[in-house]
Amino acid sequence: MVEKLTHNNFLDMDKKTNNLKTKIIGKKIYYFDKIQSTNLYAKQLIDEKIEDGTVVIADVQTGGRGRKNRTWLSPSGGLWFSVILYPDISPRRGMVITMAASISVSKAIKEVTGLKTEIKWPNDILIKNKKVCGILTELNADLNKINYTIVGIGLNVNNKIDKQLNEIAISLKQVVGSDVSRDKLFKSILKNFDINYFRLKNNDFKYIKKTWLTYSNIIGKKVKIIEEKNVTEGVVKDIDDNGYIILKTISGKKRVLNGDVLYL
Ligand code: BTN
Repeated sequence: MVEKLTHNNFLDMDKKTNNLKTKIIGKKIYYFDKIQSTNLYAKQLIDEKIEDGTVVIADVQTGGRGRKNRTWLSPSGGLWFSVILYPDISPRRGMVITMAASISVSKAIKEVTGLKTEIKWPNDILIKNKKVCGILTELNADLNKINYTIVGIGLNVNNKIDKQLNEIAISLKQVVGSDVSRDKLFKSILKNFDINYFRLKNNDFKYIKKTWLTYSNIIGKKVKIIEEKNVTEGVVKDIDDNGYIILKTISGKKRVLNGDVLYL
């Protein structure tokens, strides 16, 4: 349940986002000072049949969630938001939505801070080998149709990084040395995501994959992929247009869609 629905423009974005000129993403934005999880709230909006591209953003999440039900610490200063999408693509292409989101965030970081990022498959964005952004895509689909997706984006901007995470996580502020504008970043992410979402809707998966690969150095790497019930070792041969990793293993070629990657 949503904890407290204070409706406040903490980002002072209302007027600015009206000038976004995006086609779909960010036409409607829900702002909260504090919420349990923007993904959770987005799910409630979907139940009320909210429109494509609606965004939910909060300054603080009290119960932010990461992949595999992990906790996602979300103190004030970061960008914690979810985008509701109804892409008319096959469910087997679901991963491409996350790829479109990660290239959009990466481009926005570059535009606003000049910093180069690396994407770690499937959905982590790294700077100096530490995680600056995580993406949690929740997908609801029937056999042939995606009913909805919620793309939850957590970007460490000016927020403090918890001591326990110092070895693996980083904020943009730590790298730049001063506060980074959340307004500018948010706006740039939404603009870029809007363009890439349009590409996705037009089945231009090749562009998304090609761009994604420019941020990744996974091809040719020896890796171990840890899935819920499987651990696979091999050399990454390619990423296919659906976002699957194509691994060369000792028992032949294997496609993997989920899991945590360890570089060997
Ligand atoms: C990961 O595990 O790397 C994904 C983290 C995703 C966090 C974001 S923050 C906004 C949205 N709301 C959530 O509860 N989670 C996502």
